[in-house]
Amino acid sequence: MEKKIALTGIKPTGLPHIGNYIGAIRPALELSQTCEARYFIADYHALNSVKNAADLRQMTLEIAAAWLACGLDPQKVLIYKQSQVPETFELMTLLLAFTPKGLMNRAHAYKAMLQKNKDEDNEPDFGVNMGLFTYPVLMAADILLFDTDYVPVGNDQFQHVEMACDIAQSFNFVYGCEGFRIPQPMAQEETKTVVGLDGRKMSKSYGNTIPLFVGEKELRKLVMRIVTNSQTMEEPKDPDICSIFSLYKVFATPDEINDLRQLYIQGGMGWGHAKQALYEKMNEELTPLRARYEYLMSHQDYIHEILNDGSHRAHKLATTKMAILRQIIGVT
Ligand code: TRP
Repeated sequence: MEKKIALTGIKPTGLPHIGNYIGAIRPALELSQTCEARYFIADYHALNSVKNAADLRQMTLEIAAAWLACGLDPQKVLIYKQSQVPETFELMTLLLAFTPKGLMNRAHAYKAMLQKNKDEDNEPDFGVNMGLFTYPVLMAADILLFDTDYVPVGNDQFQHVEMACDIAQSFNFVYGCEGFRIPQPMAQEETKTVVGLDGRKMSKSYGNTIPLFVGEKELRKLVMRIVTNSQTMEEPKDPDICSIFSLYKVFATPDEINDLRQLYIQGGMGWGHAKQALYEKMNEELTPLRARYEYLMSHQDYIHEILNDGSHRAHKLATTKMAILRQIIGVT
């Protein structure tokens, strides 16, 4: 049986943290074991918020290095830059003709902007550019261009993938053909299960994250800062309501998890001990990643080479697809 195609876009807007790693990167890399995976850097999506050339270049390199450092194998996974596949933008223009404006009006990101403007007594369209308004159409182009079956994304992107389905179905209906494969969003745990330093879900917007590639010392410092309650050392503790334990579960083996669970329940274990155990497990997994990340960032030509090679291959696939679509619509 032919392998299913999994595709997702990564916006280059800052380095990943532990929550992204556990919720998005690790599962996406696992998926690449069974699917034909295409993971690209959505630099034109980032343009809506990053309007400084040096920053965009730097963050693009960093995000590529981050994924490679986490184990993305460029021999197996197609990794490329959206901007280097110009068919994406031709397809977006095509899709615009099949996208009701009303559909875009319902997009969460756009609606949130309208609401914010209302709350702040601004004009409804204040600060809304067409890049934001048509964001889901560009995303649909990314997805539909590569005959994608699965789109692993966080909850906040589900609606966008569903819109891609709607647009694709409307095209297929109009031309009475299967011009587009209908993609399926695939839930990622996102940061739901990963708690941050303050016990709330780990998120950049809460400022409670542990960056993925911080040095050992800094990592330990951050782990020691995880908020706990004021139970004394002697008291038995409940592992299932503890931030430290929930992070530990993500990094430790089942046996190690059980051992620490026992220490919690029987009492006599202080928070410092649990934190040290967590730090050690995290550091064990993250040390090689950190080293690879640093190596890659000091060999940027290598990253460029990988991105260029991937983009070249993606461009070839896209050329074939676009030629078929041009026939269907009658521009060739
Ligand atoms: N919008 C996605 C995000 O903010 C990134 C993205 C762009 C994407 N194009 C995509 C995700 C296509 C999946 C498929 O995270």
